Amino acid sequence: MFDLTDKVAVVTGASSGLGADSARAYAQNGANVVLLARRKEKLEQVAAEISGMGRKVLVISCDVTDEECVKKAVEEIIEKFGRIDILLNNAGVAVRGGVDTLTVEDWDHAMDVNVKGMFIMSKYVVPHMKEQNYGKIVNISSVNALIGDKADMFIRHSYNASKSAVLGLTIGMAASYGQFNITVNAVCPGLFESEMTKDTLFKSEAFLQGYSAQCPMSRPGKRGEVSGPVLFFSSDASSYVTGQHIVVDGGTSIV
Ligand SMILES: NC(=O)c1ccc[n+]([C@@H]2O[C@H](COP(=O)([O-])OP(=O)(O)OC[C@H]3O[C@@H](n4cnc5c(N)ncnc54)[C@H](O)[C@@H]3O)[C@@H](O)[C@H]2O)c1
Repeated sequence: MFDLTDKVAVVTGASSGLGADSARAYAQNGANVVLLARRKEKLEQVAAEISGMGRKVLVISCDVTDEECVKKAVEEIIEKFGRIDILLNNAGVAVRGGVDTLTVEDWDHAMDVNVKGMFIMSKYVVPHMKEQNYGKIVNISSVNALIGDKADMFIRHSYNASKSAVLGLTIGMAASYGQFNITVNAVCPGLFESEMTKDTLFKSEAFLQGYSAQCPMSRPGKRGEVSGPVLFFSSDASSYVTGQHIVVDGGTSIV
């Protein structure tokens, strides 16, 4: 059910963190992988690992907010692989600040990458999925789509809004494209160490202690722990599941 042999998976924001982890998990389960992000050198490092697993891999340097670049990227993928089975919309940015401190530029940046980028990627991939009558789209949201936080260093209102929008987009797309055998689901990670968090949240002992005290599992997520739910939504294990989200936060948001 979880086997992805010969499937073609496109991962955005694949140069680091949860995106790179998911790309490795796809390859471990048999998929050929397209790694898309802005930093080519970083992508090449992940690509080398995936090639080592015996999978085909394509690196594309592209900003998900640049429509022309995304259009060309999807054309290149179809030319090289002939199809796209899985789209992991993972690229994202966290912008710190509340509505009283954020600039309009900060607001737009979070909404552009986290929501518009997902829209543009999906806009060019969905027609191919419709044509092949098969597709698995997984959108990375966040537990911050569902909960806010009092702690000053965790206040990120544009991030909250953008990640809630991801859930709305997921539901809308799921409702429309189910008839084409395309499922669209979301994953909402809690706290994980990555480039996004290592110099901020993971630098504060007080914050980490507070998070662990609140979390039923008493710790932040370990790298790789998002990949299981991503794999579930990307494989035929979830063939009759659409428009849903899974929160991967060790239960932090339920207490
Ligand atoms: N780390 C966490 O605790 C956490 C929690 C909840 C949700 N998330 C979400 O997980 C996803 C991955 O984040 P991460 O923690 O691995 O951080 P990360 O910074 O390591 O990864 C983000 C990736 O997105 C890419 N990216 C950013 N802007 C882009 C753009 N305009 N075009 C193309 N690529 C772009 C980056 O280059 C990078 O590869 C994000 O959507 C993030 O919001 C992370």
